[in-house]
This record gives sequence, C-alpha cells and structure tokens, in this order.
Amino acid sequence: MIQTNYLIIGSGVAGLTFALKIANQFPEKKVCIVTKANADESNTKYAQGGIAIVTDIIEDSYEKHIEDTLICGDGLCDESVVEMVITEGPKRLKELIEWGAKFDENSKGTLDLGKEGGHSKNRVVHHKDQTGQEIQRAILSQVHLKENILVLDYHLAIDLITENNRCLGAYVLDEKTNEILTFQSDFTLLATGGIGHLYGHTTNPVIATGDGIAMAFRANADIKEMEFIQFHPTALYDASTGTSFLISEAVRGFGAYLRTKNGHRFMLDYDSRGDLASRDIVSQCIDLELKKSGDDCVYLDCTHLEMNAFIKHFPMIYSRCQNIGIDLAKDWIPVVPAQHYLCGGIVVDKTGKTSVENLFACGECSRTGLHGANRLASNSLLEALVYSDKIFNYLANTSFDKGQFEGKVTDWKLVSKPAINPDYVAKRKADLQLLMRQNAGIVRNDADLLKAKEKLTLWKNEIEEKINNYHINADLCELQNLITIGTLIVHQSIEREDNCGGFVKINS
Ligand code: FAD
Ligand code: SIN
Repeated sequence: MIQTNYLIIGSGVAGLTFALKIANQFPEKKVCIVTKANADESNTKYAQGGIAIVTDIIEDSYEKHIEDTLICGDGLCDESVVEMVITEGPKRLKELIEWGAKFDENSKGTLDLGKEGGHSKNRVVHHKDQTGQEIQRAILSQVHLKENILVLDYHLAIDLITENNRCLGAYVLDEKTNEILTFQSDFTLLATGGIGHLYGHTTNPVIATGDGIAMAFRANADIKEMEFIQFHPTALYDASTGTSFLISEAVRGFGAYLRTKNGHRFMLDYDSRGDLASRDIVSQCIDLELKKSGDDCVYLDCTHLEMNAFIKHFPMIYSRCQNIGIDLAKDWIPVVPAQHYLCGGIVVDKTGKTSVENLFACGECSRTGLHGANRLASNSLLEALVYSDKIFNYLANTSFDKGQFEGKVTDWKLVSKPAINPDYVAKRKADLQLLMRQNAGIVRNDADLLKAKEKLTLWKNEIEEKINNYHINADLCELQNLITIGTLIVHQSIEREDNCGGFVKINS
C-alpha cells in the first residue's frame, strides 16, 4: 500500500498546476501524480489557440469577456463562476510566466493577442500555435524540481476507493509490471481530461477516454451536462478514425474564410459574425452544408493572407499542411467538425469539491458552470488554471483527520484470471465509436438515442462480465469507461428537451 497526502490522477495543466502549488506550500507532505502515459501526454499538450485572458484594459474589459462567455453558454452558465474565472485570469497568467512559460509579443513589446470564434475582442494569449505544449513544458519542468512530488508515468487509475461517500484513495494499474497498486490518500484530485476517443473522429490524443468521470460515476459522484459535447468546426479532413489534426480557430481569427467546394462563403448566410460565430454554430452550419451537398468536407481558405505573418503565428499548422501537399498560398485546407471537448462532467463547487468527500475534480473532467451549453474558445486552459488554484487555496487551509476511516483501505485482491482477447476490445471500441458518431453526434434525435441506449445497456452488461472474469488491463478498463461515458451522454441527451448551445435534437 502506498500512502500519500495528495493523490493526483492526470498530468495535464489541471493536475500539474495543483501538484506544484500544494507541494510548494507543504514541503513536508507527499504529493503523488499518477498518469497513464508519458507525463507530458495530455489534451493540454495539443492546445493551439491559447488562453483567453483580459490583458488589454483599453480595448477590452472583464465585462466584455464575461458577456461573450455567457452568450456562448446560451443561458446555462453560472454567472458567478464566469465572473470568478475571468477576473482571476491575469493573476494565473503572471504565475505561468514566473514558471517560465513564454508567450508571443507584438512589435510594441506587449502580448500578441489572437482572436477566436465568439470573442468580441482580441484577447487570446498564445505561444505561436503550440500554446499547450509550452504551458505543459513550463509547469512539468517545475514539477520535476520538487522533491516531494512523485510522478508515476504509465500508471492508470482503475477505480476510486470509497467508504461512506468519502474517497480514501485509488487502485492503480502499473502498466509496465501489470501489478495493481493500492494508494491511500488524504485527498484525491481527478484531473483526467476529456472523452474524445468515444467518438473516434476527435482532436484529442488517445489518452482521452473519460476515465475520471467514469470512476467518479462508479463512486456515486454527481455528473451533469454530459449532453454538451463540443465539436470543433475545423479538424483537418481525414477519412480514417483516430486523432485528427486541429486547424486552430485562431486561423479564422487571423482572417481565413470557410468555403464550400464551390467557393461559397456559407457562414455569412447563417450568422452576422460569419466565420467567427461561436463554435457550436459553425459546426452545426458545416454539418448542414455537408448534408445538403453530400460532400465529405468544407474548406478553409488562407490564400489571401500575408504568408510570412501566417507562418510566424502558425508554424506548426503551416508545416503540417505543407507535409501533406497543401500549399496555403494556393490551396484551401479540407476541414470537417470533430469531437473536441466535453462541457459537462463531474459536478464541483467553487472550491473544486465533488459530491464525494475528500474527492476533487479539475479541468476538462469537471463541470464548474463556466461553459454552460457551449464553451467559449480558449476558456478551458483558463478554467483549469483558476480551479487548480481554488482547490489549492481550499486544501491549504483544510486539516485532515482519518477518524472512523482509519484502516478502512484494503489492498486489491489479486486473483489469477485468463487474458482477454485483444480483438474483442478493439472491435467493441470501434462499434462504440461508430454508434456514438451515428446516434449521438452534432444533430441527434430521440429514436436514434433510444436505439443507442438499448445497445449500450447490452454492452455495459457484457463489459462487466469481462471485467469480472478476465485479467484487468488498460484497454479493458478504458473500454468500460468509454461505455459508461457513452451511456451518460445518451441518457442525458434523452432527458434534455430544449435545444441550446452545442445541443441540437430534432424529432420529426
Ligand atoms: P488533460 O490535459 O487532457 O490531462 C489529462 C491527464 O490525465 C493526462 O495526463 C492523461 O494521461 C491522464 N489520465 C487520464 N485518465 C487517466 C487514468 N485513468 N489514470 C491516470 N492518468 C489518467 N483549450 C484552450 O483553452 N485553448 C486552446 O487553445 C485549446 N486548444 C486545444 C487543441 C486541441 C487539439 C485539444 C485536444 C484541446 C484544446 N483545448 C484548448 C482544450 C484544452 O486543451 C483541454 O481542455 C485542457 O488542456 C484539459 O486539461 P486537463 O488537465 O483537464 O486534461
Ligand atoms: C483552437 O485553437 O481552435 C482550440 C481552442 C480551444 O479549444 O479553446
């Protein structure tokens, strides 16, 4: 049994930031991060556009950023959370810079501010088109300097350990030895990120399988607003499933246009903000255009843009396109919507507390009330930074008492079982991804959702039987988690009657 004061599951911006702060505050306490792949692998690492923060108080204001966030969330944001998160942005940015993160500056020596869909002003602080990688690098290098932080990579949390609605730690699979370790912790933080690989076509890396939300659900935590899946309008078109390369919304903020195959700038037909309407609207319009035309993709036109400036701002996007034969000065980029982000998740209060005692959640796996029915671009990194600080502040002033829970954690019982056939897991995962794309995509209807519900019930029973009778491995755990997440999305989509933000249900 491994004892730690703080157990953090996940090493993206949410987990790393909290770890660093709590380890600084309490050098005598043990902080342990378990993470299921390389320590730097996360959705965070792939963030392109940047962090939405009001830094230019002449052109911009907190009020405007708050208003944009509320409009985008379509009436479902918690206004007090929106205000709290947005007004704390500058402090969190200062901290990132102190930890060594570098952000682009303009010729005046002030921060270069990008623009994205739904923003009325330029306010996106960025590091070229690789903001996430830069943030991850800076925070992780600080984490590695702390002697009281233990980072265990290739360790996948399987389940939380709970007793009487209190979290006492977690069971964790060491993916290299196949051993299941028991962690006893005073406080546990879920920072496990998104769910992209439930859909197959996603901008998320393969680690995004909703594990934290599924574990929290099994531990009876409140989970809400799972129906609000955000589809990013401009993933690079690729017919195969897996992770799609993102063409940042900041490219449209820089002046690129969306066009149909025939060259029509269709967004102007739908929204006065045109190409820079919020993400839910642009994705829904592309979906409609593709259904009308029968085409596989629409196009992003950058040919009229000043290429030297473009390359300076978006070097990764430029070189990715160049590598596959797209010359941005002459060619349009083929793009389609792809799953990108989950707005709902584990319900937390303003200090990051879940409904299970001593269990906290932060980042994409949490539902704070900031995003409502649709997240405003570049508000996600900001949310993770602000909430990891809120959780830190709360726990810095909270004492721990084992009380009646002393001795309640028992080691995982190891029983010898046969290995699962990997073909079963791969096939069921592909079936699940297809089902979610077809029956719970951008536009849904109750008949398809009810069919999906029936299938998911069968698969849930089937996977429980496999988990009980076969040796546990990472793929099997992730499949079980994906089925749980799919079930939550489908059930909550059936329950929601009104269309708003990223949720559209049309019953004929
Ligand atoms: P993540 O960064 O995803 O980290 C999750 C961590 O948990 C990973 O280390 C993972 O390995 C680990 N993990 C998961 N399950 C387990 C388990 N069972 N056991 C152990 N470890 C586990 N947002 C913005 O604000 N601005 C942007 O410009 C932006 N661009 C984006 C571009 C792309 C391509 C993508 C995919 C997302 C983008 N986002 C952006 C969204 C944003 O990056 C994420 O929402 C945010 O980084 C999530 O941070 P996180 O710490 O919550 O999760
Ligand atoms: C992007 O760069 O388009 C992604 C921004 C985000 O997800 O907030």
